[in-house]
Amino acid sequence: MKITAIFGSPVCKGNTETMAEAFLAECAKAGAEINRWRLNELDYKGCSGCMACKTRLEECALRDGLTPLLKAVHGADVVLIATPVYFFDVTSQMKGFIDRCYSFLTPDWYKKKKMSRLAPGKELVFVVAQGGAERVFHDMLQRYGAIFATLGFKPLHLVRGGRLRGPADIAARPELLELAREKARLVLAGAPSADTIPVYDLD
Ligand SMILES: Cc1cc2nc3c(=O)[nH]c(=O)nc-3n(C[C@H](O)[C@H](O)[C@H](O)COP(=O)(O)O)c2cc1C
Repeated sequence: MKITAIFGSPVCKGNTETMAEAFLAECAKAGAEINRWRLNELDYKGCSGCMACKTRLEECALRDGLTPLLKAVHGADVVLIATPVYFFDVTSQMKGFIDRCYSFLTPDWYKKKKMSRLAPGKELVFVVAQGGAERVFHDMLQRYGAIFATLGFKPLHLVRGGRLRGPADIAARPELLELAREKARLVLAGAPSADTIPVYDLD
């Protein structure tokens, strides 16, 4: 199993990375091949809206720090994206990456036939840390869940921790690390996801 792990927090070894690493350690034990990307250490731009990926190219026209990562997503069985909530949303680093994933959509994606250039069946693991309680920001999961479903990912597994206010707070939350390990065991077993994220109908 090949896993591409994308870290969207600018804080190294903070709450999201620690939860993500608990997931990855369980997968590594089972022999998974893991490649890790810290977005804050890459030099890249957001999508330029040039539409080259919908007209003359099969990929993003920009050549920068995200180019090898976008290639790695093609080769992955599982993509893990880990982000804290920043002002009700993913971090700007993660949003920059997600916008560049527009290049994975086919020119006719809105006709709902072959929507994605990615091979079908990839799984997405969404690791989220937030200062607020877990009952808030479901809308964020719904929005990004819809985007990744459109890109052909399924199922989507959630590892989510609320009330994580300082970068070391995760140390006092062993149940969240166990949740991450439990989700890893589900992914390794090829079990269906228990996480249901209603997908928006875009029409
Ligand atoms: C710029 C900024 C904005 C934030 N906005 C929110 C927010 O809107 N809602 C929330 O619950 N937490 C918010 N937080 C708190 C982080 O989500 C929380 O501390 C998280 O655990 C940090 O994860 P990390 O250690 O992986 O960076 C914000 C933190 C920062 C630095």
